[in-house]
Amino acid sequence: MKKTSINIGIIGFGTVGAGTAKILIGKQRELESKLGFPLALRNIADLDTRRDRGIKLPAGVLINDAKAVINDPAIDIVVELMGGIHPAKEFILQAITNGKHVVTANKALLATEGQEIFRAAGIHRVDIGFEASVAGSIPIIKVVRESLIGNNIQSIYGIINGTSNYILTKMTEENVDFASALKESQSLGYAEADPTFDVEGIDSAHKLTILASLSFGIPFSFKKIYTEGVTKITPLDIQFASEFGYRIKLLAIAKRTGKDIEVRVHPTMLPKDHLIANVNGVFNAVYIEGDATGAQLYYGRGAGEMPTGSAVVSDIADIAQNIVRTLNSEYRTQTGLIQDGTCKIKKMEDVRCCYYLRFSVLDKPGVLSRISGILGGHDISIRSMIQKGRKAEKAVPVVMMTHEARELDMVRALKKIDRLSVVSAKTVCLRVEEGEG
Ligand code: NDP
Ligand code: HSE
Repeated sequence: MKKTSINIGIIGFGTVGAGTAKILIGKQRELESKLGFPLALRNIADLDTRRDRGIKLPAGVLINDAKAVINDPAIDIVVELMGGIHPAKEFILQAITNGKHVVTANKALLATEGQEIFRAAGIHRVDIGFEASVAGSIPIIKVVRESLIGNNIQSIYGIINGTSNYILTKMTEENVDFASALKESQSLGYAEADPTFDVEGIDSAHKLTILASLSFGIPFSFKKIYTEGVTKITPLDIQFASEFGYRIKLLAIAKRTGKDIEVRVHPTMLPKDHLIANVNGVFNAVYIEGDATGAQLYYGRGAGEMPTGSAVVSDIADIAQNIVRTLNSEYRTQTGLIQDGTCKIKKMEDVRCCYYLRFSVLDKPGVLSRISGILGGHDISIRSMIQKGRKAEKAVPVVMMTHEARELDMVRALKKIDRLSVVSAKTVCLRVEEGEG
């Protein structure tokens, strides 16, 4: 039987749903000529069918019942763009059971329920497209599972949350306060429905779960990822970082150290001339090292209506081509996941890196020697130091950069230091990556 078009049903007509629809409708003819067959947007389901989304849909396309999309026998690909865990998970599983291929941008869902979803897809021989789930418009999923297939990935350093990067950039370059920068980011459609996911590093950890699993063959390990967000970054630390020659970025890091894989998300100081340190605003970047390719850098918009819509459409087009090519033959599910269990996740306490420390101390004789004594006692050596101000009774900031040390030693040393009577506030601790690039 010759298939004349591939029918698409979208669930969720919000920021990403509208961007996807704009491309599918606005570029219908170009897409058809590139693919050799048409992609037909049959339905979009949303709870609210009255709100203006900036695009006029043909009559009958917009409906308010997601189940009508999932159960429509004419629909080949269900595109889940509603977000959240429930009922998105149940919708996707039902679509898979109904034999439909699925495209989703829902990294929270994949990071936490991905094992079950991919298993179901394998059983029912359908595809799951999730390009839009990591790094917005950057085709990083395709890169990792297709383009770099001949490599053992050694390390990944990603700025993969547009909202946090937007906030840090605004704070660094324009002195905008945290709350105003977050508000702007929300109004631009970058933030998650619950923006704590963005600013607490959870969204980056969701994305890193997916990337690390594809790159290192480890199971989806969201709960094991050490996660720290940007909410505690102050203008003072941004200024000190700059004085030392660094910028602060929220980095998602996955790297091979021996047989272990480090997976962590936290604010990180990077030398100002590092390529990633110069990725600003809503832009994302993924710096990735393969054993064959060496280092590569992928850069692009990490969020927003059209950039994310572009990634969704790329999955739709890939799956549509797969459907057309393999029609009447055995359908092969293309998850790209190989979880052979040869690598395991390194405990955060064993990670080694350099640190930036900002102590709030009383400016009294002997304070520095007590602090450096405790650090030395935990095998932590100081590389450089700045002390600002000298106001007898009031606390002054003392900032140190350390040589490489073990996380557990740092945690133990800071616990002791923060108990000293001359230390007046919890010490700020940021990890530093020197890296290449
Ligand atoms: P939005 O909140 O803008 O859109 C979600 C839409 O889904 C809303 O219109 C919502 O309706 C609708 N919806 C919710 N529940 C249902 C339901 N049961 N049936 C039908 N429609 C429903 O979210 P985004 O477009 O920003 O995000 C969508 C997904 O894409 C999320 O998983 C997000 O993490 C991901 N993503 C977002 C990016 C971005 O830049 N925004 C980038 C990459 C990924 P209502 O508003 O009436 O509740
Ligand atoms: N809230 C996410 C971000 C959307 O800011 O990066 C893109 O995944």
